[in-house]
Amino acid sequence: MSRLFEPLMIGNLHLENRIIIAPMCQYSAEEGRATDWHMIHVGHLALSGAGLMILEATAISPEGRISPHDLGLYSDDDEAALARVLKAARTYSSMPIAVQLSHAGRKGSSRAPWEGGAQLRPDEPMGWKTLAPSPVPHSEAEDVPLALDASGLDRVRKDFVEAARRAARLGLDGIEIHGAHGYLLHQFLSPLANRRHDEYGGTLENRMRFPLEIFDAVRATFPADRPVWMRISATDWVPGGWDIDGTVTLAKALESRGCAAVHITTGGLSPAQAIKIGPGYQVPYAQRVKAEVGLPTIAVGLITDPEQAEAVIANGEADAVSLARAMLYDPRWPWHAAARLGARVHAPKQYWRSQPREYKDLFKDTSYGQR
Ligand SMILES: Cc1cc2nc3c(=O)[nH]c(=O)nc-3n(C[C@H](O)[C@H](O)[C@H](O)COP(=O)(O)O)c2cc1C
Repeated sequence: MSRLFEPLMIGNLHLENRIIIAPMCQYSAEEGRATDWHMIHVGHLALSGAGLMILEATAISPEGRISPHDLGLYSDDDEAALARVLKAARTYSSMPIAVQLSHAGRKGSSRAPWEGGAQLRPDEPMGWKTLAPSPVPHSEAEDVPLALDASGLDRVRKDFVEAARRAARLGLDGIEIHGAHGYLLHQFLSPLANRRHDEYGGTLENRMRFPLEIFDAVRATFPADRPVWMRISATDWVPGGWDIDGTVTLAKALESRGCAAVHITTGGLSPAQAIKIGPGYQVPYAQRVKAEVGLPTIAVGLITDPEQAEAVIANGEADAVSLARAMLYDPRWPWHAAARLGARVHAPKQYWRSQPREYKDLFKDTSYGQR
């Protein structure tokens, strides 16, 4: 019996298996609005048999976008455009879909990666002045962000709340708050980016304050029977930066506030990061959080092989695995993993006839006939 294909509860949300499609920016939106690309992308991943899909980093405000092409959830038009994509996906798939709500902070106003990914300065077309905990740029040569004052913090809180309301109306099954990869909330956590002297800077307790306030505000807004959780970078990979001890403390604080899970990644805050990369390189961080906190814990990062994913779950290192690049490379990864591990997946009826002879029981609930 495959452990990877055992069901999992995240709060009240039932996942049919423990494979999660990691959030992946597509840089293909127009003024925050999902396009036909999202219809194709979300549509085909919804047929993959994964237990949950987390939609890409979705900005809570125009200045919270990473690039001018990011998905957003800050206007009625954004909401309507995403509703169209979700309606299509739901017509053909019962896979739960969550959204990752995000504010890029000082890493906003960037070109898309395929345009080089460099910062767009505020005076360039499509660029804007970025916001951050402190006037410290992501890298030295970049434009200095504007430090958020009390009214700026209030604006960000309200924008998260408004986006959570829109997510609720869209029937999204969960919200992942983006607290990782060097974006705004991670900037508050890390002493490398947060140089504040008020109640939001200095001690660990103070640096966690704003991310926890955002969690509380989103949790209070989103329907209580649907889960809210956070993605956290467990280390900056820079001496003196955010680290795994802080991550464990944060995860415990989140748990006491009703957080349903933690999604453990690393890095993204500093160009000085020295990452030790390799298969499953972030899993030990998830393992430590799971062991010390006990919240449902999602591991991510170079998990590409079904047996590797199975071992992460079977060894109790994490409760679920999330896959990004492997899902793009092989959008039927969960089908192929089920075949390798002797498990079963749901596939759309239109594709039932593709079931290979040697895996006669691969697809669940099939019934097929012909005259
Ligand atoms: C195309 C692409 C877009 C990504 N966009 C996001 C994102 O929107 N939010 C996020 O938290 N991580 C994002 N990531 C990081 C992935 O979610 C994941 O953590 C990382 O790729 C490592 O997992 P992998 O080895 O399975 O690809 C992105 C990765 C890729 C490849």
